[in-house]
Amino acid sequence: MTDTGIDRDAEGLRDRIAAELARTRARTVLLTEAVDDADLVRQHSPLMSPLVWDLAHVGNQEELWLVRDVGGREPVRCDIDDLYDAFKQPRRDRPSLPLLPPPEARAYVATVREKVYDLLDGVTFDGGKLVADGFAFGMIVQHEQQHDETMLATHQLRSGPAALHAPPPPEPTVRVPAEVLVPAGPFTMGTDTDPWALDNERPAHRVDLPAYVIDAAPVTNGAYRAFIADGGYDDPRWWTEAGWQHRRQAGLTAPMHWQRDGDGWSYLRFGTWSRVRDDEPVVHVCFHEAQAYATWASKRLPTEAEWEKAARWDPATGRSRRYPWGDGDPTPIQANLGQRHLSPAPVGAYPAGASPLGVHQLIGDVWEWTATPFRGYPGFAAFPYREYSEVFFGDDHQVLRGGSFGTDQAACRGTFRNWDYPIRRQIFSGFRCARDARPDEAHR
Ligand code: AVJ
Ligand code: FE
Repeated sequence: MTDTGIDRDAEGLRDRIAAELARTRARTVLLTEAVDDADLVRQHSPLMSPLVWDLAHVGNQEELWLVRDVGGREPVRCDIDDLYDAFKQPRRDRPSLPLLPPPEARAYVATVREKVYDLLDGVTFDGGKLVADGFAFGMIVQHEQQHDETMLATHQLRSGPAALHAPPPPEPTVRVPAEVLVPAGPFTMGTDTDPWALDNERPAHRVDLPAYVIDAAPVTNGAYRAFIADGGYDDPRWWTEAGWQHRRQAGLTAPMHWQRDGDGWSYLRFGTWSRVRDDEPVVHVCFHEAQAYATWASKRLPTEAEWEKAARWDPATGRSRRYPWGDGDPTPIQANLGQRHLSPAPVGAYPAGASPLGVHQLIGDVWEWTATPFRGYPGFAAFPYREYSEVFFGDDHQVLRGGSFGTDQAACRGTFRNWDYPIRRQIFSGFRCARDARPDEAHR
């Protein structure tokens, strides 16, 4: 390739990065401009930061990695690094910190962004692993998008009239079967090649699985209501010991944000009450609730590997795809992502997003709890910092997969791994079930 050819590649990458940065910032601005400044500095739940902390934290990470590290520029401000260091400031303390007031926080993130656009002009993407393929920029785009989802969860927890509005998701167009058989055999889990994949998604490795059956769609509100009606919350048989203890301590009786309404249920979504819709994936359940439901249904949660094989494995070629539908980035007809809608979509609304085996709505709608604790893959190497993933490895966090309606497409892939404590349910978390294949099924 000629020098001009190489430059054109770098030019294309630069344009893409600039577009992703701008698209992401538009979402951040929308989430922080939807409420007044008093609301921005308020803590809506001890689980969440004030929105203005997220805003300046996003700018501070961008300053640390792009302005100072990649760009080698002078700090914009070096007096606030500690304030916006998530490890130095526990969430419950964040509202009492001397945070930048909203106008200063806005000015700070805008100044950082201007410097980033300026240095992006001169970046050649050949200065080492951090900038190869624009990784550092991709990491920062994903970081902001992750905080945009966190800010959306904060919006869901705030009280008062609705501040966010979006059209409803599409209606179902197909009937989805209950379950799908995934035949026994190896598949490639994780990736070495997706340029913006994060450290915990690497390296690619072969995993051999026995035949199993996985739900073709996430568990719906209607199905979950049957578990409640059957006394599922009052029967320790369905719960693990830790789950039962948490269920009692926390007084769980239904998904978060649900309330009994006559003979049925209503839920509160972003400030608006409505009747629970039976054909939507259930959301705002913790790992323990998901596990109890699965046991009640004579099933179990899928392992993380089972989830990924169902999402990526192409039986025709034996290859693992980036997404259930192929290698192309998500389009609006394939997945409910990106806060275009403010709820999960009913089952059957995204036939174009199904996997080759016919598993639906793996990407988008709701994060799906898996049976697997968060660990590094064989050969894991922290990059570029231990605090993104490695410090969370161990038995304390469960893996969630697939992204939610609140997740941006830049922060969601067939290989993307999320994690949280098994008691958390303020996130947009649901699940699907799986089970071992019976011998008569496995040898069909
Ligand atoms: C990957 C969603 C678990 O929000 O706690 C944000 C992402 N890391 N800032 C989180 C993250 C640093 C992280 N999760
Ligand atoms: Fe962060």
